[in-house]
Amino acid sequence: MLNERLEEAGEMPVAFDQDCREGICGACSMMIQGTAHGPQALTTTCQLHMRHFHDGETITVEPWRARAFPVLKDLVVDRGAFDRIIQAGGYVSVSTGEAPEANAIPVPKALADKAFDAATCIGCGACVAQCPNGAAQLFTAAKVAHLGLLPQGQPERDQRVVAMVEQMEAEGFGSCSNYRECEAVCPKGISIDWIARMNRDYLRAKLRGVERVPMKA
Ligand code: SF4
Ligand code: FES
Repeated sequence: MLNERLEEAGEMPVAFDQDCREGICGACSMMIQGTAHGPQALTTTCQLHMRHFHDGETITVEPWRARAFPVLKDLVVDRGAFDRIIQAGGYVSVSTGEAPEANAIPVPKALADKAFDAATCIGCGACVAQCPNGAAQLFTAAKVAHLGLLPQGQPERDQRVVAMVEQMEAEGFGSCSNYRECEAVCPKGISIDWIARMNRDYLRAKLRGVERVPMKA
């Protein structure tokens, strides 16, 4: 409605990101009433319906505010830092030939469920935006876990966690100091337990002497 009014008045509409409108892509990222994705728990902006507000209520929207997410225009920020963290560790570098038959490697149900829980992270960035330190530990930990729990993810588990954590640090995110704001605003209910797991994995890899290998061009 706001943008329609602006366009009718010959003014530029407010730029914002959106895509799926069903809470699965993470594009619709903005602060609403001072909270990432607004006041409704476990809800993305696109799923936060107007019926949750009072008639005539003033709704304040702002872009994510974090050093690693520069504002491009109005409510649109550059979340490319997240892409680079995934790129740093989220692939298997060995040549495996043809894709193996999906059911050839049995995956215990409990592990599959845990990996799926971590994989529900949609990369929205609310955790970073809400954190007073602008830390990306919750996002990175979820991504490290969903790959590192499965049998297929074991061969490069150490290298992957080192690469992803060190890319996260290189992107200018802050450090985690256990405010837990990330967990409180995450629309997918990602637990900070994953951060503890990532820290253990990282420490174990470093104690084994694993260093980050630069990505191939
Ligand atoms: S951990 Fe939660 S808040 Fe952070 S990017 Fe993933 S879904 Fe969004
Ligand atoms: S538009 Fe995809 S999560 Fe909101």
